[in-house]
Amino acid sequence: MLFKQQALLRQKLFVLGSLAIGSLLYLVARVGSLGRLQPICPIEGRSGSHISEQIPLRTLQFQRGLLHELRKGNAMIEQIRLHNLVQQLPQAIIIGVRKGGTRALLEMLNLHPAVVKASQEVHFFDNDPNYAKGIEWYKGKMPFSHPHQITIEKSPAYFITEEVPERIFKMNSSIKLLLIVREPTTRAVSDYTQVLEGKERKNKTYYKFEKLAIDPNTCEVNTKYKAVRTSIYTKHLEKWLKYFPVEQFHIVDGDRLITDPLPELQLVEQFLNLPPRISQYNLYFNATRGFYCLRFNIVFNKCLAGSKGRIHPDVDPSVVTKLRKFFHPFNQKFYQIIGRTFNWP
Ligand SMILES: *[C@@H]1O[C@H](CO)[C@@H](O)[C@H](O)[C@H]1NC(C)=O
Ligand SMILES: *[C@@H]1O[C@H](CO)[C@@H](O)[C@H](O)[C@H]1NC(C)=O
Ligand SMILES: *[C@@H]1O[C@H](CO)[C@@H](O)[C@H](O)[C@H]1NC(C)=O
Repeated sequence: MLFKQQALLRQKLFVLGSLAIGSLLYLVARVGSLGRLQPICPIEGRSGSHISEQIPLRTLQFQRGLLHELRKGNAMIEQIRLHNLVQQLPQAIIIGVRKGGTRALLEMLNLHPAVVKASQEVHFFDNDPNYAKGIEWYKGKMPFSHPHQITIEKSPAYFITEEVPERIFKMNSSIKLLLIVREPTTRAVSDYTQVLEGKERKNKTYYKFEKLAIDPNTCEVNTKYKAVRTSIYTKHLEKWLKYFPVEQFHIVDGDRLITDPLPELQLVEQFLNLPPRISQYNLYFNATRGFYCLRFNIVFNKCLAGSKGRIHPDVDPSVVTKLRKFFHPFNQKFYQIIGRTFNWP
């Protein structure tokens, strides 16, 4: 009997002791986390889960600051919770084309307060080992965003990779697809230039563009050369159209995005059903670079990396003519499909 009572008492003491220690630990943790619970800067008009498009621009700009911190990995789990941030699958993907201006397009769209970009090229759908990791892995590569914002990623290899259209279709058959193109010959030379730079960095010699683009035996355009094949836009687009209706694509004029970005960006805003927010204020021409730079707000602006807008090598004019002639019928077909004409020669 006595033994039983003692056992009971011990049990009670144990429970009380555990509670005390638990509370103490909780308090320590709480105090320890107080600093971290503070948001980075004061929050204006936090409206909980009901963040809508009516949100004032200034608030969105603050949130952009927070998202920026998050991307740099400086923000805490608490802040993610506090601001209802989530990782979302992209609602729109920039699928290509390589050297079409995909980075510029993504960065410029990111000026829109309702757009969040995946900074890295994810290469989920075109890379088999990545694809095998599954859709949750893909989602985990997406930036944190508010539920009302849309996430956009770009991986230019998607456009020319056989398996990609079906794989994207399986993820979201109504996803919006952005394709940015440039005049095909210019794009091919730009493609060549990028590869050449890589070779030069490794002290490797490389063929001249003319030698690669023209088959020396036939003196015809070498359609086996990748930089040429990639520029036959209609061939690639037709593969996508087996899965997606043409209305789900928006084609951006990459040449115009360089010389006069705003109208192109406004067309994309419409396509994505976003309220028009990107303005001339956000884009200023930097004469030294000969390129537009981005102004997010009074303090934060950004010019695209130096490797963009490379000087192209001089290409033999007869080769240029030959290529333009070669691309011409493919371009006509492309215009016909997309319902938009470009001033390509
Ligand atoms: C698929 O994409 C459309 C268009 O962006 C979007 O409205 C829809 O929410 C997406 N569906 C899923 C399940 O993500
Ligand atoms: C390339 O060659 C230059 C000059 O010959 C040399 O200084 C440089 O270290 C080399 N770079 C590499 C990556 O081999
Ligand atoms: C313009 O470009 C030059 C050269 O890249 C750069 O040093 C300068 O900071 C830029 N100016 C602005 C206002 O962005």
